[in-house]
Amino acid sequence: MTTTSSNPRTVSDTDAFWLREAERLDWTKAPTSASDVSWDASDLHIRWFADGALNASVQCLDRHLETRGDKTAILWVGDEPGVAKAITYAEAHEEVCRMASVLKARGVTRGDRVILYMPMVPEAAYAMLACARLGAVHSVVFGGFSPEALASRIEDCGATAVVTADEGRRGGKAIVLKKNVDAALTRNDAGRAVHTVLTVKVTGGEAAMQAGRDVWWHEEKAEASSDCPAEAVDAEDPLFILYTSGSTGKPKGVLHTTGGYMVYASYTHEKVFDLKEDDVYWCAADVGWITGHSYIVYGPLANGATTLMYEGVPTWPDASRMWKIVEEHGVTLLYTAPTAIRALMREGDAPVEKHDRSSLRVLGSVGEPINPEAWRWYHDVVGEGRCTVVDTWWQTETGGILISPLPGDPMTKPGAATKPMPGIEPALVDADGKVLEGEAEGNLVLTRSWPGQMRTVWGDHERFVQTYFTTYPGTYFTGDGARRDADGDYWITGRVDDVLNISGHRMGTAEVESALVAHDAVAEAAVVGFPHDLKGQGLWCYVILRAGLEPSAEIEKALRDQVRTEIGPVATPDVIQIAPGLPKTRSGKIMRRILRKIAEGAPDQLGDTSTLAEPEVVDQLVEGAARHR
Ligand code: WT7
Repeated sequence: MTTTSSNPRTVSDTDAFWLREAERLDWTKAPTSASDVSWDASDLHIRWFADGALNASVQCLDRHLETRGDKTAILWVGDEPGVAKAITYAEAHEEVCRMASVLKARGVTRGDRVILYMPMVPEAAYAMLACARLGAVHSVVFGGFSPEALASRIEDCGATAVVTADEGRRGGKAIVLKKNVDAALTRNDAGRAVHTVLTVKVTGGEAAMQAGRDVWWHEEKAEASSDCPAEAVDAEDPLFILYTSGSTGKPKGVLHTTGGYMVYASYTHEKVFDLKEDDVYWCAADVGWITGHSYIVYGPLANGATTLMYEGVPTWPDASRMWKIVEEHGVTLLYTAPTAIRALMREGDAPVEKHDRSSLRVLGSVGEPINPEAWRWYHDVVGEGRCTVVDTWWQTETGGILISPLPGDPMTKPGAATKPMPGIEPALVDADGKVLEGEAEGNLVLTRSWPGQMRTVWGDHERFVQTYFTTYPGTYFTGDGARRDADGDYWITGRVDDVLNISGHRMGTAEVESALVAHDAVAEAAVVGFPHDLKGQGLWCYVILRAGLEPSAEIEKALRDQVRTEIGPVATPDVIQIAPGLPKTRSGKIMRRILRKIAEGAPDQLGDTSTLAEPEVVDQLVEGAARHR
């Protein structure tokens, strides 16, 4: 590694550095160059290792067969306590080959899009890797999204196949999946191109099978060949699309490609967790999010690790479940979200202390800022003061962790993401785009590309350019604010745009607003976040009803259901405040700053309200808000 002696994280020749990191993969054709990147809006392109060829499923499976064939690849832990299954690399390889054979026989080929709508079962990982094996592009849709949301994703990416399950299990409850797929495929054009719905039997619950289109995995599997040669694709062939919320419009399809993403997922997983051969690594995310992609499936399996996959939720059947799993399976590396840490912290130390956690070495946090109180509890109680806490900052768009402490760093700053990974170059800019030096607070940007960077928005390259590269030209704008202290450590302060973070789930205010206004009763809606003890942020919805309608508990409930139907339970509003009007400027722009302060319960900090068209609206809103607290 090229480093300077003063800061071991500084890389002087980044292209040479990344080309060396690329050697961690087994390429069919090794790349001879690293980056080919322009962030100039008129000619924006991002390519890494462009003349290389490889297959992602080979990185995760085939190449380990000789040395790790009998090692546990996926340690699956069921929702029901006591249920678990260890799947070796050899077994996972065989399952993936069979699933790839099934998809191939049904006509799925390189470049086709396949939607995965799956619970947390090993077949979810098999499906991802089976697509990768064929060079097909998967798009995982989180099981908590509604048929409506699923349909719009199927349509947007033009999927021809869906992999799903009859139902999922979570916290002792059944989660409907196949029925939602059926509903989604009858919406608009969503079903038109879909020739296959491959269905995994998980609970044995009800699943209507449409002849010709729908097939059972357990039936197909028995017939399928376990020999399915991997397609060697170009480094820049798409690996997956993952939809994520932005500050405007509908969710965008973040596109990641094969070579750069795999290098970056593998590199960060190894370095941030200080991975050793015998580690039992547990990332408690869902494969429906980027964390599950990079740090349950691709990173750990590329590194030949044992990755624990948990079907259930942290608090079921009780608050000791996670620690029971840690003890039973000897978990050494744990990666979870502040929202889970806060929920468990509330239950006190006893549920933690009744289980042996001496196996733990590194504790990761991801998804939202971690408050110092939760950080200390994680470090002192869960980790007995012995483990490194890595507060990892990154995004769906970045493919992997960009800013994080590393094992070995002094643990002195609860809540700081600290320093960029070697090869990553962040900066802070003010509102005019001026780069701030030294101790400063501003907007967080990246000034140089890295291999895991998203390549485009699926089907809308212009939106990609506009969203990330025009606010501060020459840089990638993250949408986050951050502070840098005197030691050069970064503290992420949260989104500076209209994106919310609800229990670590990303949600656009615009999305929730359009779900609300789609209801007949609603004339106008404005949605803001407010601080929430457990969820980090909650959803506060101001709604103006159509003329003649009176506020009522029924309407509030109907609107809550409306959002659940349009988006899914993850977006359930915390507060629906029916209001007589919204604070607008004379030119008609909603002053969200005022709405945020009212929702926060800080009406004395509204700031300048002199540009309001109807200042009296504010008093009515403040009064109305008090009734919701
Ligand atoms: C947004 C990205 C990163 C994978 C899971 C979420 C926030 C993420 C941290 C952290 C403070 C964080 C940011 C970011 N975020 N990690 N360690 N500290 N904030 O991915 O859904 O794309 O959300 O999550 O605001 O922009 P995502």
